[in-house]
Parts: sequence; structure tokens; C-alpha cells
Amino acid sequence: MFFRKKKEDVLVGLDIGSSFLKVAQVNISRLPHELVFFQSMPLRREVISEGAIVDKPALIGALRELAARANLKNADVAIGLSGHSSVIIKRITIPQMSQDDLALSIKFEAEQYIPFDINDVNIDFQILGPSAHEHGQMDVILVAVKKSLINEYLTVLEEAGLSPAVVDVDPFAVSNVFEANYDFQELRSVALVNIGASKASINIIQNGLPVFTRDSASGINFHAEALERMLKVTRDDAERLKRGESVSGISPESAESVLNSASDEIYAEIYRSFEYFRSSVNDEGIQRIFLSGGAALMKGFPEMMAERLGLDVEVLDPFKKIMVTDKVDPTVRSLAPLAVVAVGLALRRIGE
Ligand SMILES: Nc1ncnc2c1ncn2[C@@H]1O[C@H](COP(=O)(O)OP(=O)(O)OP(=O)(O)O)[C@@H](O)[C@H]1O
Ligand SMILES: [Mg+2]
Repeated sequence: MFFRKKKEDVLVGLDIGSSFLKVAQVNISRLPHELVFFQSMPLRREVISEGAIVDKPALIGALRELAARANLKNADVAIGLSGHSSVIIKRITIPQMSQDDLALSIKFEAEQYIPFDINDVNIDFQILGPSAHEHGQMDVILVAVKKSLINEYLTVLEEAGLSPAVVDVDPFAVSNVFEANYDFQELRSVALVNIGASKASINIIQNGLPVFTRDSASGINFHAEALERMLKVTRDDAERLKRGESVSGISPESAESVLNSASDEIYAEIYRSFEYFRSSVNDEGIQRIFLSGGAALMKGFPEMMAERLGLDVEVLDPFKKIMVTDKVDPTVRSLAPLAVVAVGLALRRIGE
């Protein structure tokens, strides 16, 4: 999407998250697909926020280190962008036309749906098929990303000695992983929810097609920030408490109560998005939520989410069908929810 380079080289998925950089490589030339490489590296909290680069030199430094460790010098990388202020993903309904005709007129069709100057964004689209409601119309998924954001990431990657080949968006990487591992024929209507450190994305898939996407600035930094503020703990201790570890001087009950109210803020936000979806798109019930990102690792988070939203919540397993080969550190299994976006990016074929 947006930026392609035809090459037969390996494609590596690089997820530039605000708390962890992750790289994955998947052998997609055979079935089952095989995870042949995975590595993650923590990033300081101030480097990236909600998808925007705050400290460029720090990010370049971290990427250089990761590239050296992971031997990425000759690899093409696929990155995912997100962030509700620079990435717009919308399903729109427009008159039926061919792929080629739409390619010529997409700017004109898209203009009214994009809150930015149309000349400041790169646009991509996917025709979903004829509209079920309006004769002669078709449904299209429109993706618009600010050129300034793309250019910023491309510059950073190049300065880090990496070779960017694909620029995708995070929610689509998550749906790639879902498609590669689950049978969506059985699952008519599901919500793929990725909650990381500084943001969350929701992607509702019905009958295998995306019908609704939303990004928000709710992430589990909320939890650390609340712990630091309410219990006056250090950042490192807040991270320990988030992982369910104990910290001297802090009772597990008080930590739990702060953590639960931070989780409640996130559930409320997701609930509001689902309500909006029901009222504006369709009210075909969501059968199940598939949760990924760091939140899925937080003790009790998926269970409490199920209770609050009144829906089944399953932690999305990127390795349900994709095999983890013995080239990869087996601890990747315990980090599986964090690996989802990187694995999804690695599943992209160049030129697709
Ligand atoms: N074992 C664990 N238990 C609880 N929380 C964890 C665990 N491992 C990581 N985390 C938390 O998960 C978060 C990282 O999740 P993730 O990798 O999905 O975020 P990210 O992609 O870096 O951020 P974003 O997408 O929001 O920019 C961090 O806040 C971290 O504290
Ligand atoms: Mg993330």
C-alpha cells in the first residue's frame, strides 16, 4: 500500500509501537506458514506517541540497533502506520465503476470523507463489492494517510539503514493475522481489537470483509500513568504492577483498584465505538472480540472486558495456524499478542 518496490527479497514486518519495536519474518511460500524470525526491543515512552514520532534521533538510534541485532541490512521492511489524527480508514458507498476508473477518480470521490486537504494525503482503496442497500452503488474501503506522516517514517527508516518496501496500516495487519489463523466463514461478525501502550484500534469484520474501523488514543499507558499518579510509584514499579507482580509498600488491592478503573476507561471507549457502529453501520450483533496488543497480557483484562461489554473475548493467537519454527526463541509464544501487528505486516506480499 502507498509505496511499493518490486523485489524478490525477504519482507520483514516491522511494528514501530510506542513501547516496543517488533520485527517478524514469516515464510509464506508454503502452508502452514512459518514464523522464522521474531525479535522485540523496548522503546522509551517519549519516543512515539499515538503513532506520531516525537523524538526522531532516539527512534533512528533504536532502529539502527534493532537492524544490527536482527541483521536487517538487506531486508525490505513493511511498516504499519496508525493514529487517529493522520490515518483515516472508512467504508464508503459510491457509484459502481471499474478498478481503473476508480483509480482515476478516487481523489474526487474521497474528498468529502477526508478531514484534511486531499492533496496532503496518499489514498488507497479496496473495492468490496456491490452495495447491498443501494442499486448501482458499490462499497469501497478508503484509506488515507497524511503524506507528512509517511515521509517522516520513510526518512527515519532510511536514516536507520532500512529499506522500506510496504507502508500498511495497523488494523489491516491485524486482520491479515486473523485471516491466516481463523475460519471467518464460521465467524460472521467479529471485532478485532488491538490495544497497545498508547492507542487502540477496532476493526469489525463481517463475512470476511472490514465494515468498520476506528482508532483511538486509549492504551495501557493509562494504567501506568494512573498508578504513578495515584500510588506515587516509579515508572518501573508501575510496569511491574501492570504485569501482576508485587511491589513493596503497595497492597495488591490498591493496585488492582487503580488498574481496574483505568481498564474501565478503555472498555467504555470501546463500548461507545460499538454503539456508534450499531447505530450508523448495522446492528448485526458482534459474535466475538479478538483481542491483541499488550492489553491482552494484562492479568484479568480480557475477562473483565468480556464482562463489561457482554461479549465473548478471545485473545487473538497469531500462531494458531502459523508454525513457530525452532529458529525462533520459544518465548515468543508468551508474547504472542504483542507480535500480532509485526506478523501481520510480514504476511504482506510486495506488490499486493
Ligand atoms: N507480560 C505483560 N503483562 C502486562 N503488560 C505487558 C506485558 N508485556 C508487555 N506489557 C505491556 O504491553 C504494552 C505494550 O503493548 P504493545 O506492544 O501492544 O504496544 P505498542 O505496540 O508498543 O504500543 P502502541 O501500538 O500503542 O503504540 C506496554 O504498555 C507493556 O507495559
Ligand atoms: Mg501497537
